[in-house]
Order: sequence, then structure tokens, then C-alpha cells
Amino acid sequence: MFASRRGALAALLLLCCCSFGPHAAVAELADKLRDDSELSQVSQSNKENKITVAFYSLLEQNPVANSTLTLRSCTIFVPTNEAFQRYKGNAQVLYHMTTAAFSQSQLKTSVPSDMEGNPPLYITNGRNGDIYVNNARIIPSLSVELTNREGKRQVMHIIDEVLEPLTAKSSTTEMNNMDAMQFMRVADQLNLGNRTLRTYRTQVAIAKKESLFESPGFHTFLVPIDEGFKHSTRSSLVDAKVIDGHVIPNTVIFTAASEHDEPKTSAAFEDQIKVTVSFFRQKDGKMYVKSNTFLGDAKHKEGVVLAEIVKANIPIKNGVVHLIHRPLMIIDTTVTQFLQDNGENGALRKFYEVIMDAGGGVLQGINDLSEVTILAPSNEAWNISSIDNIVRDRKKMTDILNMHIIRDRLNVEKIRQKNANLIAQVPTVNNRTFLYFNVRGEGTDTVVTVEGGGVNATVLQADVAQTNGFVHIIDRVLGVPHTTVLGKLQTDPMMSDTYRMGQFSHFNDQLNNTLRRYTYFVPRDKGWQKTELDYPSAHKKLFMRDFYYHSKNLLERHLVIADHAYTMKELVQMSLTDTVTLQTFRDSLKVKIEEEAGRYVMLWNYKKINVYRPDVECTNGIIHVIDAPLLEEKDIVVSGGSYLPESSICIMLANLIMITVAKFLN
Ligand SMILES: *[C@@H]1O[C@H](CO)[C@@H](O)[C@H](O)[C@H]1NC(C)=O
Ligand SMILES: *[C@@H]1O[C@H](CO)[C@@H](O)[C@H](O)[C@H]1NC(C)=O
Ligand SMILES: *[C@@H]1O[C@H](CO)[C@@H](O)[C@H](O)[C@H]1NC(C)=O
Ligand SMILES: *[C@@H]1O[C@H](CO)[C@@H](O)[C@H](O)[C@H]1NC(C)=O
Ligand SMILES: *[C@@H]1O[C@H](CO)[C@@H](O)[C@H](O)[C@H]1NC(C)=O
Ligand SMILES: *[C@@H]1O[C@H](CO)[C@@H](O)[C@H](O)[C@H]1NC(C)=O
Repeated sequence: MFASRRGALAALLLLCCCSFGPHAAVAELADKLRDDSELSQVSQSNKENKITVAFYSLLEQNPVANSTLTLRSCTIFVPTNEAFQRYKGNAQVLYHMTTAAFSQSQLKTSVPSDMEGNPPLYITNGRNGDIYVNNARIIPSLSVELTNREGKRQVMHIIDEVLEPLTAKSSTTEMNNMDAMQFMRVADQLNLGNRTLRTYRTQVAIAKKESLFESPGFHTFLVPIDEGFKHSTRSSLVDAKVIDGHVIPNTVIFTAASEHDEPKTSAAFEDQIKVTVSFFRQKDGKMYVKSNTFLGDAKHKEGVVLAEIVKANIPIKNGVVHLIHRPLMIIDTTVTQFLQDNGENGALRKFYEVIMDAGGGVLQGINDLSEVTILAPSNEAWNISSIDNIVRDRKKMTDILNMHIIRDRLNVEKIRQKNANLIAQVPTVNNRTFLYFNVRGEGTDTVVTVEGGGVNATVLQADVAQTNGFVHIIDRVLGVPHTTVLGKLQTDPMMSDTYRMGQFSHFNDQLNNTLRRYTYFVPRDKGWQKTELDYPSAHKKLFMRDFYYHSKNLLERHLVIADHAYTMKELVQMSLTDTVTLQTFRDSLKVKIEEEAGRYVMLWNYKKINVYRPDVECTNGIIHVIDAPLLEEKDIVVSGGSYLPESSICIMLANLIMITVAKFLN
């Protein structure tokens, strides 16, 4: 009997090792197994070897596990060495076993563990089709199946994380495979890192929602900890609907297996109110959940609420619990409070730091607005070298920060309505600076980009709702350039015609030169479209390769070359009294810039041209997007008139030759 048990263990180990280890190591491991005292040493010196010898020693020492291995069919989930060494607690061997043999394809929904009370292990399919046991991924190629000497089928799966059951602080606490309600009742006695759940539990009782937590099946429960109710009136906002919004029924979601940003239907999803919940991971590795109330009522405002998961993946009888740092759905902080709450240590730490470094006046400014929307760059967005110089310049930094603030409540839906299929222009707190929004796609495929001061940022987290507005988290700092004039032209959807013209005429070649400081007046696509209507033949020629010389001449008129790039504000100052003369490649550009109704206009050649997008900052200059090209009479006549015969003659000649050749061939 003893021998047969030993045989089963060794066979499992051998089979397992053979599938991924060199033979010498296998023989060595099998040898060393005979001597318990050396086990820990072996596991240290064989780090590459995925089998956990230390885990085997736990198996051997456990009488139930010992006898199961000898006598019964079973499945064992064995953590890799690396996972085992990473784990700080006491691994529970019996929680890693079930007393029936399941191959990977036989693992479904849940299996009872062999631990006291048989708490279930949950089986889910994660991203890439991997199979997860609770939060641990089964390494697909390493499963082993065999029949032991007693003729019992046994299966071993190697997993990348130790399975952690719910345990109590004291060994005397009765742990009888509790459901979510029992869990909340005895939370104080459990190993939850001293987190308490009294406030939420009380609200569940007041709202008479116990049955939701007791319902059999497999659910995901999000439970806010007491710390999340620091705002004094917050607990009173937890009503039955809010509690529903914290439960994802009939789905068990462990964080490692969760599809990120995949909205799940919460229990608050009916005619009157619709709330989804999704999981996502920040770049710093922290896991978050967010609720999205996309149909609300008077008491439940629409919008997104984020909560950090402070303790994830607590398995219980009817699913899994995640403890979160604040309740979802409840919108009870102002934008300012939100920045403060998330500034200390959270997702907007860097943004908040910069605001404070700039003197805090920006925060006061936000506070003074009755309605406000903030585009808050993520912590990672601040990790660019070009920012270092600016951060020290308080005035410039304040302008940049103000470029992220809008005096309006602007969620994605409203941006969408503002400008169906077009780019929406929105003024910012930084006077005369506008943001441009583009919303593409529907539902979960929606991509929102925002452009400000030359930077095109993508919204990572939209519609985070506050009492007085919204916060959208973006991936770049607006107004801090990261691309050359050429790079900007190349990617900006508004400048594609000017880019195209500059490409074939080789005018663009110079624009990537980072030693220059250009000021480039770029006609936007709409401006060229208008030219096409007014002067069709001139327009046609300007966009023809054959006439590149004229296209190039024309573009040169738009490009100011100096040792300094001019902002619109500077140009206004410079032309207060008279026309200013700016140096271009061939000659000069005489303009006067004025402000009119909060916008800039350019007076040139007796024409008034609107500056549609001032101050698009680039690493080697500034682009000002204007509503029309700086076209002179001669451009229209020359390209539209006098050159026409020449080209016609060419074509006629070519045709003649063709005809002659054709005749000759006949
Ligand atoms: C399990 O097997 C090991 C190895 O032979 C042995 O030392 C240990 O006493 C066994 N444990 C129990 C509880 O039988
Ligand atoms: C929990 O609280 C106890 C006593 O206050 C303390 O000794 C212990 O370190 C705390 N544990 C954690 C994980 O914070
Ligand atoms: C910042 O960027 C550098 C290089 O671009 C990278 O090595 C570093 O990990 C980044 N830091 C953070 C906090 O993202
Ligand atoms: C912006 O313009 C408004 C009204 O034109 C003015 O009251 C305010 O002081 C200006 N703000 C800044 C920062 O220049
Ligand atoms: C940002 O850039 C992308 C890709 O070039 C473009 O599709 C989008 O329209 C731009 N967004 C804005 C607001 O200009
Ligand atoms: C412009 O310069 C950058 C590096 O400064 C380079 O990565 C990029 O490819 C260049 N673009 C073109 C079109 O040459």
C-alpha cells in the first residue's frame, strides 16, 4: 500500500517532468524526493523546473491527500515553483484537489474542492480561450493523466497561481462554505486585510436585499469597504437599485480571467434603469471596476463611476466577492473632490501634482465653475521628456492645464450629438484655445479622440461622472508637442490636402527638420474645397504633379522661417499698429492678425481669413490652421490660364505622335 502510493506520486512527477524538463533533472528530482529534508533545497536550485517539489511535500504530509492519491480518482491543481514561492500565505493542499478526475475539457463551471465543507473551485474560460481555476490559469501543455495502481484515473494540472480559499483570522472560527450574505456578516473575523464591511451590510439589511446575496448559483459580488463611505451622506444613497448594480448575476468573474472593458449586465438592468459593470487594469497593474449607468432616473444619475479593487477574488459558495474602495453608481463628489480623491495615490496622481505645482489656482478655477468637464491625462501620459522644461514655467503650465478644462457638462453622447460625423469644436478655459473631438464607432467600439494645441489624445476612460460634470481620462497631455510639423500634417484629418500638395511638390521634405522653428499657416481641407468651387481649373492644376512648381511656390508663401515660432498671441501684439512682415523662403508675408469675437482673423492682401485652429504646437514650430489658402490673382491666372495652352499643346503633341505611331504600325 505504501509502495503504491509512493508509486502514484513518483509516476505523476516523472510524467510531468518528462513533458518539460531535461532527463537528468528528472532523475535527480525523483532521487531527492526520497529525502524529505532536502526537498526545499531542491526546489530552490531548480527554479526553471516548473514542478513544485515543495508542494509535493505538502501533499505527502497531508493524510487526506496522501490517502486520496493512493486510493481515489482525483484532480490536483499544482502551482508552478515560481507561483508557490511568490505566495506569502499557507497553501491549502486540499483546496487544490477534487476527488474526481477531470481532464481540461471535462472541467466545467465549478468542481467541489476537497477542503472542509467542500467549497467550490470555479472554472472559467478567460481571454485566449485559456481555462482558469478561480484566478489561476491552467498551463495548457502541462496537464498529465494516468491510472494509478488501484486502477483509479488521476489528473494533474499545472497552474500559475496558488489557489487561495476564504479563511478566518482565528482557527476556531467556523468556516462552513459561506454564501455572500454569511460572508458579509462575519467579515470582521475573516482574513480580509482588516477591511470591514459594516456600512454596506447595514444598507443591505435596510434595503432588505439579503436574498440577493443568499441566492444559490454563481454570481459576482462587488462589495464596498467601510472606508468608501467617508463622505458622510454617501451611505444613505445606497438603495436597492444601487445594491443590484453591484451584483453580476449568473457569471463568476475572477480578475485574471476577466475580459477587460467588457461590460457585463448587472442585476440593475431593467426598463427604468440600466447599469453595466466592467473590469479593467491600469498600466500600474491595479485592477478597477466601473459601473456605467447609461439609463438612469432622478435618483441614479447617468455616467461612469470607477472603483479600485482593494481585495480581489474571494471565493464563496455562490460565486466570488471583490472588495472595492468605494461604491459604484453613486455620483456624489464634485470634479474638484474627484481630483483630490484620485490625486493622492490614484489614477490622476501626476495630473493633480502638476496642478498643485502650478500654484493651485487652476484647482480654484475648476472649483468656481458650476459645470465643468476635465480631460485628465493619465499618470503615464506625463512620462515624456518634453514636459520637463514646461513644468518649471508656471504661466505656460497654467495655460496648458486650462486647455484641459471645459466650462460645460460634456459626455460622449453630447459630443456625438454636437457634431455627427464631423469634428466638434469646443472652447476651453484657456481663452481662444479650442479642443476638437472626434467620436467614432458605437457601443463598446466607440473611440473618442481629442485634439488640443497640436496633440491628438485618445480617451482611455470616458464619462466619469461627478455632480457638476465629467472627467475623461486621456493618454496624452494636450498642448505639449511630441511631433514635428511634418508628423502633424501627416496625421491630422483636417490638413490632408495641404499635406498631399506638399508631398508631391517635395515642399514637405524640410518640415521634419528639428533644428528649425517654423510658423506654418495651413489651409484646412474645407478651405481647399471652397477654392475648388470658386476656381475649379486653378484648383485642379495646383493638385497636379505636373504643376508642382506652382504648388510649391504657393505653399512657400504660407511658411514663415525664423529663429522663433510665432503664437497667435504674439502675432496680435506684433501687428497692433501696423502690418507685420514675416520672412518666408523666397520673400516675405505681410499680415495683420486681429482678435474678433474671441477668435483670430488674419488680414492679408485685402482679404480677411479666419484662423480656424490657432497654435497647433509641434516640436519644430507652430501650425495655425486657416480657413482659406493665401491665393493671389496670379496663382489663379497662371495656373488656371497661361499654362493651360502649354499643357494642351503637350497633350496634342502626344496624341499626334500616338496617332502617327498607330498608323505606322498598321
Ligand atoms: C504521507 O507520506 C509521507 C511520505 O512517506 C510520510 O512521511 C507521511 O507520514 C505521510 N503522512 C501521513 C499523514 O500519513
Ligand atoms: C490588522 O490589524 C492588526 C491589529 O490592529 C494589526 O496587527 C495587523 O498588522 C493588521 N493587518 C493588516 C494586514 O493590516
Ligand atoms: C517612462 O518612460 C520610460 C522610457 O520611455 C520608461 O522606461 C519608464 O518605464 C516609464 N515610466 C513609467 C512610470 O511609465
Ligand atoms: C478669458 O476671457 C474672459 C472674458 O473674455 C476674461 O474674463 C478672462 O479673464 C480671460 N481669462 C484669461 C485667463 O485670460
Ligand atoms: C486624431 O488622430 C486620428 C488618427 O489620425 C484621427 O482619426 C482623428 O480624427 C484625430 N482626432 C481629432 C480630434 O483630430
Ligand atoms: C521625421 O523624423 C522622425 C524622427 O525625428 C522620424 O521618426 C520620421 O520617420 C521622420 N518622418 C519622415 C516622413 O521622414
